[in-house]
Amino acid sequence: MMRVIRVNDYQEISEKAFEEIKKTVTEKPDAVLGLATGSSPVGLYQLMIKDHQENGTSYREVRTFNLDEYVGLPKDHPESYYSFMHRNLFDGLDIKEENIHIPSSEGDLQEKCEQYNDALEETVIDVQILGIGSNGHIGFNEPGTSFDSVTHIVDLKPSTIRDNARFFDDDISKVPTKAITMGISNVMAAKKIILLANGENKANAIQACVMGPVTENVPASILQEHPDVIMIVDRTAASSLYKEKR
Ligand code: F6R
Repeated sequence: MMRVIRVNDYQEISEKAFEEIKKTVTEKPDAVLGLATGSSPVGLYQLMIKDHQENGTSYREVRTFNLDEYVGLPKDHPESYYSFMHRNLFDGLDIKEENIHIPSSEGDLQEKCEQYNDALEETVIDVQILGIGSNGHIGFNEPGTSFDSVTHIVDLKPSTIRDNARFFDDDISKVPTKAITMGISNVMAAKKIILLANGENKANAIQACVMGPVTENVPASILQEHPDVIMIVDRTAASSLYKEKR
């Protein structure tokens, strides 16, 4: 079942998502969290750090699995998702490094996909945090990806490369063109999914995800078939809901 929570702004998205995460780790200190990078969850991560520092909420027994990683950036590049996650979340928590899982894109890529997938198959993610691409991607599962996909290597679509250029001095040529990502079936295996979306450029993707047909052309539309999804969207991202496609 898909529940859409419409809030006013990014701050409220972050607060709502934080309530869910705090509840999860309080009830289950060894919870498994599925995490995303990008702008959408940064406010949530800041609230998790603040709460850990002020209230002592512990992540010592929590395990995390990230959705994806760029191919072609060394792990210590500031825009690798490894660096992003440490800078924006892990360095501010008491999580153990060995409990953090981020796909590795160094070495034999096929082997890295299989290893990550094996680890995912041995685990049940309690809560998966997702953003959504302006083209409807989840993780880096671009339009056209099979709903049955598992961890795999992808070619990023030009629209995704353009969207992500803001992290690379607005220089498209610096954005990696490939990534390793959890597949859609890995994402769907999570017990609960929380998708965060803000801003006008997400409005069409949110409309297609919530109201459109379930189609591989809009990867996020498969979430309509998941038993427990919360979509937390601000006014602008929700602006095309319940209206004809613009
Ligand atoms: C990030 C990821 C992507 C992003 C999506 C939205 O790990 O898998 O699917 O969630 O591209 O990105 P932002 O939040 O930057 O708009």
